[in-house]
Amino acid sequence: MARLTILAGLSLLLCLQMVSSTKLVCYFTNWSQHTTGAGRYLPANLDPNLCTHLIYAFSIINSSNELVTSDPNDYVFYKSFNALKNINPQLKTLLAVGGAAFGVKQFSIMVSSSSNRERFIQSSIIFLRLHGFDGLDLDWEYPGAKGSPPEDKHRFTLLCQELLAAFEKEAAQTSKPRLLLTAAVAAGKVNIDNGYEIAEISKSLDFINVMTYDFHGAWHPFTGHNSPLYRNSFDQGNNIYGNVNFTLKYWRDQGVPVEKLIMGFATYGRAFRTSSAANGVGAPTSGAASAGPYTREAGFWSYYEICTFLKGASLHWIDEQSVPYAVKGNEWVGFDNMQSFAIKAQYVKDNKFGGAFVWSLDLDDFNGQFCDQGNYPLISHLRSLLGLAVTTTPPPAVTTTPPPTVTTNYSDTNITIRAPTTRMILMNSSVAREAIPSLVICALCWIQILQLHLL
Ligand SMILES: *[C@@H]1O[C@H](CO)[C@@H](O)[C@H](O)[C@H]1NC(C)=O
Ligand SMILES: *[C@@H]1O[C@H](CO)[C@@H](O)[C@H](O)[C@H]1NC(C)=O
Ligand SMILES: *[C@@H]1O[C@H](CO)[C@@H](O)[C@H](O)[C@H]1NC(C)=O
Repeated sequence: MARLTILAGLSLLLCLQMVSSTKLVCYFTNWSQHTTGAGRYLPANLDPNLCTHLIYAFSIINSSNELVTSDPNDYVFYKSFNALKNINPQLKTLLAVGGAAFGVKQFSIMVSSSSNRERFIQSSIIFLRLHGFDGLDLDWEYPGAKGSPPEDKHRFTLLCQELLAAFEKEAAQTSKPRLLLTAAVAAGKVNIDNGYEIAEISKSLDFINVMTYDFHGAWHPFTGHNSPLYRNSFDQGNNIYGNVNFTLKYWRDQGVPVEKLIMGFATYGRAFRTSSAANGVGAPTSGAASAGPYTREAGFWSYYEICTFLKGASLHWIDEQSVPYAVKGNEWVGFDNMQSFAIKAQYVKDNKFGGAFVWSLDLDDFNGQFCDQGNYPLISHLRSLLGLAVTTTPPPAVTTTPPPTVTTNYSDTNITIRAPTTRMILMNSSVAREAIPSLVICALCWIQILQLHLL
């Protein structure tokens, strides 16, 4: 009997493991609404079943040290964003504060005294609850860098500790699930060393998004990959640290439990203009390649823009680094594709990391219009590579009445925000089909447990 109980326990464990705790965290950017034409991305484009966590980028801190929107129009988007949880109740949403453009100044002021921190913390709780978010993602780029003084390294720890304590207290008082606390952190070794008391902050954070991309870009005078998995044998100096593998192990080896480490996946590439006949990795460059027709930032191309570039380009694979690049004329782009995502997802699993996060939703071929690989080809591939079980919520009833529309007047343009469309609902059910095999195995598992009990 004891043996049977142990067996039953073991298969229950197996079953629970299949309904895995692996995370797929996806960032939504509030400025992708301004992308032109087919690149425009609105909350209506969000798929409630694609990611386990959605993070809204970005909110900011005002001069009274309170958490506020970066744009009054954000309120409308918060509504549709958080309403996705009515379709997928397992989905968690977080609000990110900061970002590269926001910089360090107000973060430094906010952490400089305990009363400033308290003001920020209390305003965050009120704000997150008011708008229906499940947590806060700290995107300070970076403590101890770009004018943030060295003291900020320890003050960031205090901020994390005090936020967690306040979130716990609020949860106890209101009997609501505790707000989540996460951070997006640096991948460059110097910024890591100057910015974080790693073992300490990891105690207060639910998970840590390590921004393992932007390792090479047009700011370097030679070609290099945006997000290589491993180092290149000719890397020298600090460049030997500029890869995913070094960075994640560096965070891990300084005390972050592996299940809290979330690896960054980029749905964009960084593109250079080469300045000689050489066009391999490490070839001399004269700056950024042209801007993409939709994203319009020199040297920064979305995956869907890269799909167009690939027509007539030569595609190469960097063996040592497990990532592709492509060349056409004097333009060179290092990016990620299905193959590199597969190798990187396996790396996440082999190292038992907590999962993957994606920067960002709007840069994948979300409408399937450019790459001929379906909607969200990279992110949905990543979801299945990570073996994520699909939520068991029944799909919402398909109604024949047209979805209600809300039209909001924005300063520069008229934006129509749609409720989820039939197309989205159909897409969700195709995701559900993919999950059937794992659900069947899980059911078999339970039958086995029941049989053992009957014995
Ligand atoms: C989005 O966020 C940025 C700051 O990150 C802000 O400047 C902008 O006004 C926000 N809103 C819109 C609608 O772009
Ligand atoms: C900062 O935001 C809070 C909350 O919205 C507001 O009450 C306060 O007046 C704002 N401070 C400034 C200086 O804008
Ligand atoms: C991955 O990183 C670890 C720790 O820095 C290092 O020992 C190992 O050689 C790296 N693997 C590869 C293939 O570069």
